[in-house]
Amino acid sequence: MKILVTGGAGFIGSHVVELLIKNGHETVVVDNLSSGKKDAVPSQVQMIEMDINSQKLEEVFAREKPDVVIHLAAQVDVATSILYPSHDAEQNILGTIRLLNYCQKHHVQKIIFSSTCAVYGETADCSIKESFAMKPLSFYGLSKYTSERYIQLFQRLNQVPFTILRYANVYGPRQTSLGEGGVISTFFRKILNGEAPFIYGNGEQTRDFVYVKDVALANVLALTKGTNGIFNIGCNTKTSVNELLTMMTSLMAVHMTPIIRPAREGDIQHSRLDNTKAATVLGWQPSYELSVGLSDTLNYYKGVFRNGSI
Ligand SMILES: NC(=O)c1ccc[n+]([C@@H]2O[C@H](COP(=O)([O-])OP(=O)(O)OC[C@H]3O[C@@H](n4cnc5c(N)ncnc54)[C@H](O)[C@@H]3O)[C@@H](O)[C@H]2O)c1
Repeated sequence: MKILVTGGAGFIGSHVVELLIKNGHETVVVDNLSSGKKDAVPSQVQMIEMDINSQKLEEVFAREKPDVVIHLAAQVDVATSILYPSHDAEQNILGTIRLLNYCQKHHVQKIIFSSTCAVYGETADCSIKESFAMKPLSFYGLSKYTSERYIQLFQRLNQVPFTILRYANVYGPRQTSLGEGGVISTFFRKILNGEAPFIYGNGEQTRDFVYVKDVALANVLALTKGTNGIFNIGCNTKTSVNELLTMMTSLMAVHMTPIIRPAREGDIQHSRLDNTKAATVLGWQPSYELSVGLSDTLNYYKGVFRNGSI
């Protein structure tokens, strides 16, 4: 298949692109490099430096004729969304609508959309199913939820098939400190630099951490499965930020006392995703336990640290 990946130079996107290539798919990346890096894209892949809101994107659709669009490009930072809601909406909502228009016009067989557990907002400390009520706590969660609704209505009115993947907190090599899973990247960077990491609030907030290679696999499975479905992509496990720091410092054999800062607006207290539907329909299951994923990620950051660019 020919796949157009928006945001393919980013953290998750670059892993998706690697797996697509491995599976023999022809892949084209569109990325404005606002947070992505050109060198994260494998050299054999065509990398088009372009904003998804650019009118020139239509020429890319006309020329490349993708079978499937994997849409990851987004404004990904919760705090930025609260400070600049119109910027967040422009990137996440209008950007998605523009892509949907091109998908319809150029007969794309499916759009696979990267959504988030932030669409659920605050829930009880329980395993969240896809059918739970949506009460986002940030404009980022709201813009992703609104995009989901546009995607569903585009399918109904304009026959653009979709698969929506709602990720838990993604972590792994090449992650920056921005975005939702950024706590692991931030902690590794700080500790390797000999600095104390920050914890916002009491550190008892829990997260469901999912390894980036498992997320890439979910995207590849969605090429042929789960049409017009919405799927949680998480491990259905909960780890508090305090537990996470303990795991990371013991992995690195160091002792660190964190600096406590006030809780941040828009931060969710508990988040854990039920992944039964993804297992049943997509045949997806996470294969990396947190301890294994952390160890792989640490090896990556040690390499970056040795090169002096952390
Ligand atoms: N990282 C997580 O924990 C997580 C969790 C849930 C959902 N997501 C979603 O997954 C997707 C990828 O996130 P990520 O963590 O890899 O972030 P990232 O910032 O590393 O990747 C986003 C990529 O999109 C590009 N981009 C941003 N705006 C663009 C635009 N207007 N036009 C073209 N390119 C643009 C950036 O340059 C970057 O390469 C996002 O949609 C995000 O909302 C991420």
